Order: sequence, then C-alpha cells, then structure tokens
Amino acid sequence: MSKDTLILPKDFPQLQNDTFLRAARGEETEHVPVWCMRQAGRYLPEFRESRAGKDFFETCRSPEACCELTLQPLRRFPFDAAIIFSDILVVPQAMGMDVQMVPGKGPTFPEPLKEPEDLQRLRVKVDVAKELGYVFKAITLTRHKIEGKVPLIGFTGAPWTLMSYMIEGGGSNTHSKAKRWLYRHPEASHMLLRMLTDVIVEYLLGQVAAGAQALQVFESHAGILGPVEFKEFSLPYLRDIARRVKDKLKEAGQDVPMIAFAKDAHYGLEDLSQSHYEVVGLDWTIDPRSARERTGGKVSLQGNMDPCALYAPKERISDIVKKMLEGFGTRGYIANLGHGLYPDMDPENVGAFVEAVHQHSKQMIKQM
Ligand code: CP3
Repeated sequence: MSKDTLILPKDFPQLQNDTFLRAARGEETEHVPVWCMRQAGRYLPEFRESRAGKDFFETCRSPEACCELTLQPLRRFPFDAAIIFSDILVVPQAMGMDVQMVPGKGPTFPEPLKEPEDLQRLRVKVDVAKELGYVFKAITLTRHKIEGKVPLIGFTGAPWTLMSYMIEGGGSNTHSKAKRWLYRHPEASHMLLRMLTDVIVEYLLGQVAAGAQALQVFESHAGILGPVEFKEFSLPYLRDIARRVKDKLKEAGQDVPMIAFAKDAHYGLEDLSQSHYEVVGLDWTIDPRSARERTGGKVSLQGNMDPCALYAPKERISDIVKKMLEGFGTRGYIANLGHGLYPDMDPENVGAFVEAVHQHSKQMIKQM
C-alpha cells in the first residue's frame, strides 16, 4: 500500500465533541467552546523543538509535520477545535510567487508585485490540487490522527490581505504600496482580487473534501482600509467566497460553518453579519455587547479577549473571561482571543484561559 492510500479522506473517526460546530450554528451547548488563533505556535516548547532548524514553508509542505504541530496544543489543553497548521501565504506561492519566511523578519517576497504588468507573472490557471495538495494531505492525515476528539478547522487568507502581502513583499506599517494600487490602479486591483478569489474558492472546497469541518477566512489587514475601501475591495470578495463555497457544497449535500475574521473592521460589522458566514470573528477592540447589537443575533460571534490579557495573573484572566462571557452571552458564541497568541506567552496562562471559559460558561448555562 502506498503512503497516499493510507490517508484517504474517508472513514474518519466519529466526532465526540461537536460543541464548536453547534455554537457556530447558534445551537444550544453545555459550555462555550474555545480555541485560540495560533494555538499551534512558538509559545509551546514542543512546537519550537519540532520546528528547530527547519525552514517554515518546508514544514508547511510536510503533512506529517503539520499534523504533529496541529495536535500539540490539544495534548495540553481541552480546546474545542483544532486549526490545521499551515499559512495564508501558501496561496501566493501556488500562484507562482516566491515567498520565504526569514527568521526575525517574517514573511518575505523577494520579487513583490510592483506595477499592474507584474500580474502577468502570476499563473493564469492555478492547478490547486497540484500546488496545494500537500495541505489537503495534511488535513486528511490530521482528521484521522485527531481521532474525532474535536473538529478540524481549515483556513485561508482573504483576497485583500493576500494582495497586500504580494505587493508589500512582507509586513508593513503603512501598507502604502498596496493601498497605492487601490487608488492608482483600481481595475488591476480588482483583477488581482478576482484571481485570488477564484483560487481561494477552490482551495477551501479542496480543504472540505480533504476533511476540514469548518473554514475561517482571515482578512487580517481589513483595518488598514477605510469603510469606503472595505466595501469596494474586501467585502464583495469575502461575500463571493462564502456564497460560491456554500453553493458548491450544497450541490454535494454538504455544509460546513464558515467564519469571517476581518481584523479591525469595525465599520464592516453589520455588513459582515449579512455575508453568508455563520460566524463573525472579532478583534479585541470591539465591545461584546455592542457587537451583539450591531450583528442583531443573525450570526454567531467569535473572539475577542485581548491576547495581552494572557500576561495577567491567572485569577485576573478568570475575571476578564467572566466579563467577556457576560457580554457575549453563552449562545451562538465561540470564545477566542482577538488575534493570535504571541511567542512569549506562558502556556499555563493559555490553560487558565481555556479552563475559565469552560467553568464560567457551564455555570452560566446551568443557571439559565
Ligand atoms: O495555530 C494556528 O492558528 C494555525 C496556523 C497558522 C499559522 N499562520 C502558522 C504560523 C495560521 C492560521 C496562520 C495564518 C497567518 N499567517 C495569518 C493570518 C492570521 C493573522 O495572524 O492575522 C498571517 C497574516 C500570516 C502570515 C505570517 N506567517 C506572519 C505574519 C507570520 C509571523 C512571522 C514572525 O516571524 O513572527 C507567519 C509565520 C507563522 N505562521 C508562524 C506560525 C506558527 C510562526 C513562525 C514559525 O513557526 O516559525
């Protein structure tokens, strides 16, 4: 038997804890489910050990390594979901761009897109199964190895966030190179956003076919757009992605909850809650009660403790979690941080966060 036939996307172990999926659909749960963005990350000594001396994207291309890194946080903490270890920048790679992870500097594109003519350097037709098949294999392998303990989340970067990386060539404070395109080359910008959307739709469908049980779309750079630019260059593509993925899945008699996480996009909350996503992810700058009011109970919410609250002593974390739960309420709510965990965070405090969510929410639900 070849290695591939050993990890077919079928006969997965039965799911034992579906709390996350029920909360995503707004159904009743016994406790509020919780997971953390970047839960597989450098704050865990075992993660640092597994990653030591290895190239980041080489690690992403190894299904075995991705599976191991995805499972590590679950061995420590009773998270209610796992997220596949990968990166949003595998999509620009699949479109033909070189991306490297430079230690101490972060993601780097040696040849970013500079002018609209550079779009010709991108692959016209991306063979998603060929270019990103390694992610699908990682998902299938992990679905088997997770033994049905919790659901597995697949993810992608959203078009605008990926476009901004492809033009900036890496991290940026102003994102002025990418925003220059929006103002100077709106047509080329839309062309690039459409190209990305087409790849992303296929990529997400491939992840579900491989075994992903929910999908999160990271619009991490939403906040650098204003409300007008968000409505033109981000929202339509976020909507298109959810609609097309859902339509295709429906044809196949399938459905998975989708989460839109548009960081710092206050102005987009009402629109996002009417964009075919079951869940809207929130960063920590949004007050839970006002987020509920503005989304009008139409969607489940996910978030949004300030990641830096994990630097607080454990008792204080517990108090902060309690207030957050009271603000969101326990129904249609998935606890998370407002962004990813940082490398210098104490795993013990992450454990305290998870425990506080479970304990307080169980009590609140019992008292209802
Ligand atoms: O646990 C998880 O959340 C799953 C894995 C995951 C990673 N990246 C692993 C990773 C996810 C969901 C991402 C998404 C991602 N990658 C985003 C969107 C989420 C967000 O943070 O807004 C973005 C913007 C990226 C691009 C990226 N990749 C950055 C900015 C960095 C940090 C670079 C640095 O040096 O700090 C990465 C690297 C990366 N991706 C790490 C991890 C665990 C850390 C580097 C390492 O392991 O060597």
